[in-house]
Order: sequence, then C-alpha cells, then structure tokens
Amino acid sequence: MRVLGIETSCDETAAAIVGPDGIESDVVHTQEVHARFGGVVPELASRAHVEKLGVVVRAALEQAGGAPPDAVAATAGPGLIGAVLVGLSWGKALAAGWAVPFVGVHHLEGHLLSALLEPSAPDFPFLGLVVSGGHTTLYLARGLGDYQVLAQTVDDAAGEAFDKSARLLGLGYPGGPRIDALAAHGDPRAVSFPRPAPGGLDWSFSGLKTAVRTHVLSSSRASDEDVCASFQAAVVDCLLDRVQRAAEQTGVRRVALCGGVAANRELRERAAALPKLQVYLPARSRCTDNAAMIAGAGRLRLLRGERHDLDGVARPSWGLA
Ligand code: KG4
Ligand code: ZN
Repeated sequence: MRVLGIETSCDETAAAIVGPDGIESDVVHTQEVHARFGGVVPELASRAHVEKLGVVVRAALEQAGGAPPDAVAATAGPGLIGAVLVGLSWGKALAAGWAVPFVGVHHLEGHLLSALLEPSAPDFPFLGLVVSGGHTTLYLARGLGDYQVLAQTVDDAAGEAFDKSARLLGLGYPGGPRIDALAAHGDPRAVSFPRPAPGGLDWSFSGLKTAVRTHVLSSSRASDEDVCASFQAAVVDCLLDRVQRAAEQTGVRRVALCGGVAANRELRERAAALPKLQVYLPARSRCTDNAAMIAGAGRLRLLRGERHDLDGVARPSWGLA
C-alpha cells in the first residue's frame, strides 16, 4: 500500500509518499515568515500552508513517479488548530477525489514511529523519547497504538528551552539548530548550569532557561559558544539520565530518539555511545517535522484496517497514551 502523508501542524508544510519499500518521496517546506517574530505566528502559519501545500503535494507525487496513492494520511492534531485544519482538509479532499481510504494521524505517534522508517528499525517493545518544541515525553511503545508514558516534562519542553535560551542570546528562531552549531565550538564545562530533577523520571527545563538568563545578564558572561555548549550539555545530561534509568526500570534496551531535538548532534553522539542500549536514530531530517513520519504511521494503521470518516475533526490538544 502506497500512502500519501500530509503534515501541517506547525510551521513545516510537508508531503511524502511511503510504500512497501519505504520512503518514495519526502518534501518539506519550512515557513520563513515567522523568523522576524521570534516564534511561530499561528495565523501566518495557516495562511502560508494554504499557499504552499498544493506545490508541496504535487512535488511529493511527482518525485514518487506520479501515480496516485492507495490511501491518504494527514496530521489531525495536536498542533495549531488553523494549521492542522489546512492539511487535514486537503488530505480528506484528496482521499475523496481519488476515492481512496483516509486516516487522521496523531502528530506525536508520527514522531514516535519515525524510527520504524529507517533500514534498521526497532522491534516492539521499545522506549521512545519524543523531544520536540512542544513535547518532551518518554514512552514505552509496546505495539502500534499501545503506548505508556514513563516520563514527561513538568514545564517547558526541551525544544522550547533551546528556543528560549537562543532568544536570550539573540540567536533568532528556531534556536535549537543555532545552539547546536555554536556549541560545537564551545566548552561544555565553562558555565555550571543546573540539572533539575523534579521527581521520578520527569524533567523540568524552565529553571535551566532562567539560569541561562541570569548568566547572560551577569558581569562574568562567558562567550556565546561556551554558554551554548554548557546549556546543551545540561539538557543532554537530563534527557539521557532518564532514558538510562527507564531502561533499567523496564528492562527494555531498545531506545528510539525522535522529534526535532533528536536532530541535535551532541544528543545523538552521546546516546549512540550509551552502554548496554540499542539506540535508534531517525535521519536528522526526519527528526524535525516531516510528512514521511505521518505517511508511515498512517500506513501502519491503514494496514491493520483502520479507516476514518471524512467528518473527523482537527484536535489541537490530544493525548497519545
Ligand atoms: O519536531 P519539531 O520539528 O516540531 C515540533 O513538533 O515541535 O521540533 C522543533 C524543535 C524546536 O524547538 C527546535 O529548536 C528544535 O526542535 N530543534 C533542535 C535542533 N533542531 C531542531 N534542538 C536542538 N538541536 C537541534 N539540532
Ligand atoms: Zn513535531
């Protein structure tokens, strides 16, 4: 079964085709209109999706040989309601026009299962760290649709901490890739940032962001490179500490890292070097928002017989587990 996936939940307009042999096409357009505002402006995101989605879907179809797909999957939430509605409506309309089945996909399930698109994919059960701009959650994935939350952030998401810290440093939006790049030239021991542990396996990142602010305003401010390296080391320490503890507690040794922050070079390198764990890392371009992950997750649900009515609604907030 060849599935067209559509993703428009935030500021990436994306379409992709996934078939029995894997990813046939994967087209992502990142909206640039938000950069000067320092964050995503929901109404502008919706309008930019409307303008660009036709071109992006056409490119995904053409790159995959031009034949219409056997089914359509579109992100149905969570995300910015107007932005989700654009892709969801397009997906339903295309499915109706081609007279093929449709499924609405949970954006986080797309991220969580993105590791399954790689040539070396984890078997269930696996631990899935979904670490993005809006979410930081560690799942125990037992099977398709069978997910248990083992840990989550009690305040900011890790990606949000990257974005807010980058803003404090005047690095612009999105902050994650810029901090990642500067950190490569800095000393991770230059500034001693906290590693908050709010209890259990949960995370807290808002105190870290405040520590960055306090440091940046201090008279003994380190270089941007050193602040970025020190901040990034603190985030990666916190993330990997919980992953290791969860692996010990559950006995599950397969770990997939997914979501935008999983594109971070230090996180990837240090995760891959963890002893006793099998770590699965989607390609960096498939950590940040993309439609291949939506087509992939939708395809698994379609293959087991799921079909969604065309009157299904967009869900701006929607739990996965
Ligand atoms: O998964 P994603 O594209 O969108 C959401 O679903 O949120 O994640 C975006 C987040 C942003 O916070 C961005 O700064 C962060 O992922 N990010 C990174 C890197 N690339 C993107 N964070 C750290 N290092 C990176 N290389
Ligand atoms: Zn995402």
